[in-house]
Amino acid sequence: MNAVTPNALAVLADALGGRTGEAPPAVYDSRIDAPGEAADPALSAFVKHQALMRCYQARYVLLPSVAPAGGVLGPMQRHYDAGRLQALDAVRPALEAELIAPLVGEAPAATATDYIEAMLAGIRGGGDNPFTVWLATTEHRDDHYRNFLVQSSPDLLAEASASALGVVGEFGEPQSALFRILIDEFGYGSYPKKHSILYRAAMRGFGLDDEYNAYWPLFDTEALRLHNVIHWLFQNPRNLFKQIGFLLYAEAAYQRSTQAHYRHLTRFNPTVDARYFGEHAHIDLHHSRMVIDEVVAPLVAKFGEAVGAEVIVGAELTRIAFARAGDHLLAVSLAFEEAREVTWGVEGDVRNPLGRPVTPRSDLAALASAKVQVGAIGVLHDARELARFPTATIGRVLA
Ligand SMILES: [Fe+2]
Ligand SMILES: [Fe+2]
Repeated sequence: MNAVTPNALAVLADALGGRTGEAPPAVYDSRIDAPGEAADPALSAFVKHQALMRCYQARYVLLPSVAPAGGVLGPMQRHYDAGRLQALDAVRPALEAELIAPLVGEAPAATATDYIEAMLAGIRGGGDNPFTVWLATTEHRDDHYRNFLVQSSPDLLAEASASALGVVGEFGEPQSALFRILIDEFGYGSYPKKHSILYRAAMRGFGLDDEYNAYWPLFDTEALRLHNVIHWLFQNPRNLFKQIGFLLYAEAAYQRSTQAHYRHLTRFNPTVDARYFGEHAHIDLHHSRMVIDEVVAPLVAKFGEAVGAEVIVGAELTRIAFARAGDHLLAVSLAFEEAREVTWGVEGDVRNPLGRPVTPRSDLAALASAKVQVGAIGVLHDARELARFPTATIGRVLA
C-alpha cells in the first residue's frame, strides 16, 4: 500500500479546514495541521496521526454540550458530510498500514493461560507508578498533571466509544460479557456515573475545559498514537481477538495505575473530584476477571490456541503502547523542568488562533525569540529549548 504523500495530506488538511466553517464547536473542529516541510519527519508523523484520529472520530456521534449560536444542524451536517467522510476513508487504510501495523508484534509462543498468569504477576509486582512518584517531588505538579489529563483526553473524554464499536454484532456468550463491561463504562445508564463524565469532573477540578476535542492542538504524537492504536483495534472487526487482548491488558493495568492517581489526588488535590480514578481502581478488578473468565477462556476453548495467540498479540500491543505513552509523558515533563525561562500553564485559546506546530527537529533557530506552548504544561520563552525534548513532543508557536 502506498504511503500517504505530503501532498495528499495537504489536500486533506485543506478539505477538513474548509468544511468546518467559521469557529466550529470544539467537538466538530476536525482540522489537522498542514504537513509543512518534508525536512521534518517528526512533524509529518504527527500530522498523519492527527489525520488518523479524525478518521476515527468521524465514526461516532458527537454533540456539543452547549447549543451553538447558529444552531447545531449546520455544523453537525458539515461534520458528517458524505464527501468529508469519504475523504477520510480514502486515506485511512494507508495511514493504518504506515502508522499502526508496524507496532503489531509476532504471535508469542505462550498459551493464553500462561501469558495471563505472567501478565498479572508482572502488573502486581510492577512497582510504583513512575509519573505519580515523580509528581510528588516537584512543586509544579499541577501543571504536569494538567498535561497528563489533556494528553489522555483524546480517548478518555469519549471513554469506551472505541470498545463499543467492538461489541455490535453476533458472536456468542462472550459478547454478552463484553456488553456488561461496556455498560459499566457508560455508568449503567446513569449519566453522572458515565466514566467520560467522571473524567470531565477531574479536568474541571484543574481548571480545564472539559469539552471533547477542546485541546486537540495540544495532543502530541504519542498521545495520538495511543488513541489511534486503541481505535485501530476496535474500528476493525478483523481485530476482534486483539481487541480482547487490549481489554485483557488494559483492565488489569488500569486498576493499578488509577489507584496511584487516586492516591496522588487525595494527597495533593483533595478538593478535585477523583471519582474517575477511585471508580476504576475498584471496578477494573471485576472487569479484568470478566475478560479472563468469560471472554478469553471460552473463546480459546471453542476456537483453539490460535485465537489465544491473537489475544496475546493485542495485549502486548497494548502493554507497549501504554508504556511508550507513559514514558514519553514523564520525559516531556522532565525536559520542561530543565527549561530556563518559562510561563506555567496554558496560554490563551489553543484553537483560535491555531499556532503553528513545531517539533524538536524543526528549524528552531529561525524562531529564536518566539514563545512555544508545550502540551498543557507551559510556555517556553525561547523556542530553541524545544530541541532538547523527546522527538514526539509538539510545541505550538504563540502569535
Ligand atoms: Fe472506564
Ligand atoms: Fe473497565
